[in-house]
Amino acid sequence: MENLKTQVAIIGSGPAGLLLGQLLYKAGISHIIIEQRSADYVASRIRAGILEQVSVDLLNQAGVDENLKKFGLPHEGIEILSNGSKHRVDLSALTQGKQVTVYGQTEVTKDLMQAREAADLCTYYEAQDVQVHDFDQQQPYVTFQQNGQSFRLACDFIAGCDGYHGVCRASVPQDKIKTFEKVYPFGWLGVLADVPPVSDELIYVQSERGFALCSMRSKTHSRYYLQVPVTDHVEEWSDERFWDELKNRLDEESRNNLVTGTSIEKSIAPLRSFVTEPMRFGKLFLAGDAAHIVPPTGAKGLNLAASDIAYLSSALIDFYQNNSTQGIDEYSEKCLTRVWKAERFSWWMTHLLHRFETESEFDHKIKQAELNYILDSHAGLTTLAENYVGLPY
Ligand code: APR
Ligand code: PHB
Repeated sequence: MENLKTQVAIIGSGPAGLLLGQLLYKAGISHIIIEQRSADYVASRIRAGILEQVSVDLLNQAGVDENLKKFGLPHEGIEILSNGSKHRVDLSALTQGKQVTVYGQTEVTKDLMQAREAADLCTYYEAQDVQVHDFDQQQPYVTFQQNGQSFRLACDFIAGCDGYHGVCRASVPQDKIKTFEKVYPFGWLGVLADVPPVSDELIYVQSERGFALCSMRSKTHSRYYLQVPVTDHVEEWSDERFWDELKNRLDEESRNNLVTGTSIEKSIAPLRSFVTEPMRFGKLFLAGDAAHIVPPTGAKGLNLAASDIAYLSSALIDFYQNNSTQGIDEYSEKCLTRVWKAERFSWWMTHLLHRFETESEFDHKIKQAELNYILDSHAGLTTLAENYVGLPY
């Protein structure tokens, strides 16, 4: 058994763990990341791609925004296509100049990994049998194996950034934790393709055939999604079938502008809303997907992981620099207040734009009326825009 020691043990090297590591490093606080997958696997996962301004600011504060500044695409509006007619939501005009940035989570992850490598920071990849111990006591520690060798990592705090299926949340005694969950009866079939996007801005599509989303990663790279039954298999969706169905959900102008091509990646993701309360258990903090999941409709997943890390990094920095436990004590409540607002928004967008097989004709009509109201009302559009660009920390 090899004995290791650090101030903060971070479990998981997704965006949450990597960003926390970078912010702690900049503040002179030692940490080690333990990740169960390989570095290649972590760097190649395809995920969402919209950053709120506050997330962009945090990446700047972490000193990892060089590529983001160069290649990120600022967007001042989105389009909503409802029953064949398009409405532009002028995000900037409705929010006193705020905007979002199109930049893939895959790129954020790569930038953070590169910064980590440049600073020679310690990560144990392909760690097995990771276990967190004694986080309800003064001296927590983590045990794991790598390449047949056993490790024991002593630390002051453990940051559980290990995603929805991670070990940290699962290690909390049942009577100390409460979870809230909603599972949706459909998934998103996503396609990444080397073709220019159909439009300069994202198009969220509500149609009788179901939801669709036209997104992008760059001016030459598109990301499209279709609402599909959660029971569908990706093998049932040839590229041709995908593009045909997308065209069926679009308006004529977009249909004519759509450039199709061979898919680079194709996958189906189920939709889920999920929250854990609280988010701190003694010396163990949960952050990002380990604590909450949102359906992707509002593009909030990565941004919520970033806001948790903003709160957690400043709490830990305050503890080490000023000997204050205030940030630590307030961590869970502060995060959850913001998390639930984003959960509400993501649920609402999902509800409003998707087709639910089980809804009555009356419910369907009411939903259409709500969407019409939102799109015709300055107050309604402001609510949408304010949430979409991101609520303040
Ligand atoms: N031990 C070590 N690492 C683990 C363990 C474990 N037992 N279980 C999971 N992990 C790792 C995963 O392999 C993954 O690399 O934890 C990491 C968690 O990363 P993410 O799932 O990307 O979660 P997070 O960093 O919170 O990022 C949230 O990702 O899923 C999207 O919508 C979500 O955009 C949001 C973002
Ligand atoms: C994406 O580009 O992957 C994306 C964009 C907006 C969303 C969800 C996903 O709401």
